[in-house]
Amino acid sequence: MPNARVAMYGKFWDVFYRKTYAAGKALWDVPPEESVLKDYEVFGPAFKQVGTVLDIGCGTGEQSKFLGGLYAKVIGVDAAPRAIEIANASDHPSNVQFRVGDLSDEAFINELRLQSGDMNVYMRGVLHQIRQPDREEVAGNLLQLIGDKGALYLIEVGKNIKEYFRSASKSFHELPDAVQETFISNLPPHGVDESEIAALFCREDYQLRRQGSGFLNTNLLLRDGTPVKIPAVFGLIAKN
Ligand SMILES: C[S@@+](CC[C@H](N)C(=O)[O-])C[C@H]1O[C@@H](n2cnc3c(N)ncnc32)[C@H](O)[C@@H]1O
Repeated sequence: MPNARVAMYGKFWDVFYRKTYAAGKALWDVPPEESVLKDYEVFGPAFKQVGTVLDIGCGTGEQSKFLGGLYAKVIGVDAAPRAIEIANASDHPSNVQFRVGDLSDEAFINELRLQSGDMNVYMRGVLHQIRQPDREEVAGNLLQLIGDKGALYLIEVGKNIKEYFRSASKSFHELPDAVQETFISNLPPHGVDESEIAALFCREDYQLRRQGSGFLNTNLLLRDGTPVKIPAVFGLIAKN
């Protein structure tokens, strides 16, 4: 029986995929060339030691499918049952499977570990949506998944997200609706910064192998046609 917090993430996000997503794609839906392939330049060399890749918070599975072309086994996990339904109904390679699961659910994390051992974990735009009081525990769960040989790559909306939207909002053509829908349907994004990534993940023998700032591509355009790029931070974490 899931606890209330675990049920909350799944419930909020399921509403998003059932209502908002059904009416048009999410703003973070971009081709793999503009997302995971760009990230691959950082995580590629570190993901060599183990064969299974977990795409946590995989949404409708676009990044998972791309990862399936690069790694022996990929598991896309999302808290929202509707997102997983959409992912499962889409064409996907046989080495990619999708399942419902919550990153903050310790029992689920233990089950994954028992099934697959040490894994590489890819996470795009998920931690920034996790409530502050849950983040330390969630970070511990992620480290448990990578174990001794795996690595974790995450790229997350930066802490300056609200200022960015506020200052840029006058130039946006279609952003207000798309952003409002995301903000209303889900838990609002709180952002993450580089010092928080270090504080959450540099424990026991785990270290930050790479860290930096960049951006997350979206499918939104400024009035002049320029693509909206959300400020982001990334980190690559592994043992020793
Ligand atoms: C901003 S979307 C990013 C989707 C995907 N990673 C991408 O980049 O296309 C965040 C995703 O994280 C999922 N999510 C949020 N909280 C979660 C949790 N606690 N456990 C698992 N998935 C979660 C949501 O359902 C949603 O699909």
